[in-house]
Amino acid sequence: MSEINLDDLVKPGASEVHRDVFLCQDVFAQEMKTVFRNTWVYVGHDSQAPNKGDFTTTAIGTQPVIMVRHTDNTIQVLLNRCPHKGVQLVNDPSGSTGRFFRCPYHAWSFKTDGSPLGIPFKKGYEDTGFDTSCAKKGMCKVANVKNYRGFIFARLSEEGESFEDFFSGSLSSIDNMIDRSPEGRLEIVGPPLRYLHHCNWKMLVDNQTDTCHPMIAHESSAGTVTKIWNAVANEDTPKPMVVELVLPFMSSYETFEKMGIRTWDHGHGHTGVSWSIHSEYSDVEGYFSAMIEAYGKERAEEIIAETRHNTCYFPNMMVKGAIQTLRLFKPIAADKTIVESWIFKLVGAPDTFLKRTAMYNRIINAPTSIVGHDDLEMYERAQEGLKTDANPWVNMQRHYREDELGGERVHPGTSEVQMRNHYVSWAKYMGQINEKGAGS
Ligand SMILES: [Fe+2]
Repeated sequence: MSEINLDDLVKPGASEVHRDVFLCQDVFAQEMKTVFRNTWVYVGHDSQAPNKGDFTTTAIGTQPVIMVRHTDNTIQVLLNRCPHKGVQLVNDPSGSTGRFFRCPYHAWSFKTDGSPLGIPFKKGYEDTGFDTSCAKKGMCKVANVKNYRGFIFARLSEEGESFEDFFSGSLSSIDNMIDRSPEGRLEIVGPPLRYLHHCNWKMLVDNQTDTCHPMIAHESSAGTVTKIWNAVANEDTPKPMVVELVLPFMSSYETFEKMGIRTWDHGHGHTGVSWSIHSEYSDVEGYFSAMIEAYGKERAEEIIAETRHNTCYFPNMMVKGAIQTLRLFKPIAADKTIVESWIFKLVGAPDTFLKRTAMYNRIINAPTSIVGHDDLEMYERAQEGLKTDANPWVNMQRHYREDELGGERVHPGTSEVQMRNHYVSWAKYMGQINEKGAGS
């Protein structure tokens, strides 16, 4: 790999970021060895593995992993390779392996915590030094795994910030999504909507807190819905759910400015401090009474009133508590990203919530959506446009202030501060080259 000088890539405060951050495959390779090893990366939700032996496969950066429920009911995260010849132990996106994994190549088997269970015809390994080999130890296991109220995060490197220090106050967005269930529980519903974007994964992260694009980039979709609605509806016309979901995308600059952005250390932040595009959905019959019964009136009102827009969790995850959606931006190469959009059921809440969440996901995030394509076209055009040599910088100076970050802060809603917050952290973790831990 050629030498990477981070000062050449990210200007102080991340007011500008060099195009190589998005285009260069060497930068991408270093991200996989640093950013995606040294931070707590979202792996999955424990409702994806309700029974012992249930598993789901995913990746931390480009490291393939299995998330599995072990016989002691804990969730384990294991590297998806047989320690013998490297064969992937499971191939399916999800399923059940029973009490153990069995390699389809030579039938080596492993318990669901990765420890070795059996090797056929073992006597050929006597006096070979096999006992001290990596293969003898079993599957590589990710040592640092945290189950936070059902959300599973893992850190590949052995050393680094604790889970609590890394996320600090940002966990309040996950809390709010869970607390919206009268039972305080979420369940993943279905597989995610999943599709390939021909752009860098960080363009998707940047877009989540970009509040100056919806009224422009989405004019062709949300703008058309708004025009039609204004032409056919009067104040007594009942608003269909789809219209209710799409109209707020055309909110004004002034509205987005007022709603605010909150940032935390380590690159996390969210839009929609005082209002968001999710704030004015219709009430659902029976929900508020169920929430009052569960939490008491004051707390129930507090939970429902918190309608944050997008919360970005560094490095590559976003949640929308108010509509129970989680998006994961999975890096494949400098110019390839798989986007997964997951939805949750609020356990104990009326079915209308799941219908609304599923509709939002289809309308906004699906390969067949009407809104998400507007963004996709912008990312892919940026990935091409950045190849021009005349100007190598991506500008992020909107509302920039030198001392704007540190602890929990609130900023104007059209600030690009959360993008800067992301790249300040990105530069910090890119500089932490350490080879200890699973996945090295
Ligand atoms: Fe957008």
